[in-house]
Amino acid sequence: MKITDLLKPANREEAQLLEKLDPKRLPKHIAIIMDGNGRWAQRRHLPRVAGHRAGMKATRDVVETCSRLRLSCLTLYAFSLENWRRPHAEVNFLMRLLREYVKRELESLQENNIRLLFIGRSTELPAEVRKDMQDAIQQTSANTGMKLIVALNYGGRAEITDAINVIIRTADANGITHFQVDEQMISDHLYTAGLPDPDLLIRTSGEMRVSNFLLWQIAYAEIYITEALWPDFSRARLFEALVEFQKRERRYGGLSESPAHGASEEVTERRFRSVRG
Ligand code: FPP
Repeated sequence: MKITDLLKPANREEAQLLEKLDPKRLPKHIAIIMDGNGRWAQRRHLPRVAGHRAGMKATRDVVETCSRLRLSCLTLYAFSLENWRRPHAEVNFLMRLLREYVKRELESLQENNIRLLFIGRSTELPAEVRKDMQDAIQQTSANTGMKLIVALNYGGRAEITDAINVIIRTADANGITHFQVDEQMISDHLYTAGLPDPDLLIRTSGEMRVSNFLLWQIAYAEIYITEALWPDFSRARLFEALVEFQKRERRYGGLSESPAHGASEEVTERRFRSVRG
């Protein structure tokens, strides 16, 4: 299969980048810290909210492109626990924009067979936001293509804390006093339980931070940081990230990127993980 069987380049730049990509070595799960909406607006002497609106357009293109590339998961950091510290008006706008996104994109999600999921402390979100989230989750629940996971009111440390509290409560309820937590048990109680870990973490706008995003899950992810601001993160910028990903050698703490002979990639990955210091 050629990559152009999956999507057609829109211009010469895209064609040149796509030519460099091996369709068999694409990441299965990309996680993105969408940063730089405010700066994008500032540079144009526009209000910050105009940057968020432009960011929504970039989001739409990236979601559709990743789905065409047959990724298994795409996780987007839309609103962090820390984002409540922003001015009231901006937080309200972001909540409205998220509701608008969920409603407006539903048709396109269905057409592209994308299943929408959310991670984060959703119980702390306004009731009307929760209602729209639930509707979209329900309506896309039978879709079998890419999973689009939107991190909303999300924090990585909060996620690990929540997981541990659930484990303790479950043990308590079952009268278990002496138990030992292992890595698999923690993974199984994270908001992302059952989903593969990201292979590639992209952050836009040049900041060298992970900002409390998927702290547990990115243990072995390749990190790619681009200077492009989120509203400027076009398909070509995504292809550049994929080209760079394919240049990296993934070792999982071992010596070679290839899984051990005879073992499935997933099993081998887990084995490397458990022997790593
Ligand atoms: C970061 O830019 C962006 C956000 C906090 C919000 C992300 C929201 C969107 C991209 C809108 C649509 C997305 C979805 C999934 C509906 P910033 O404000 O931190 O930018 P700055 O660092 O330049 O100030």
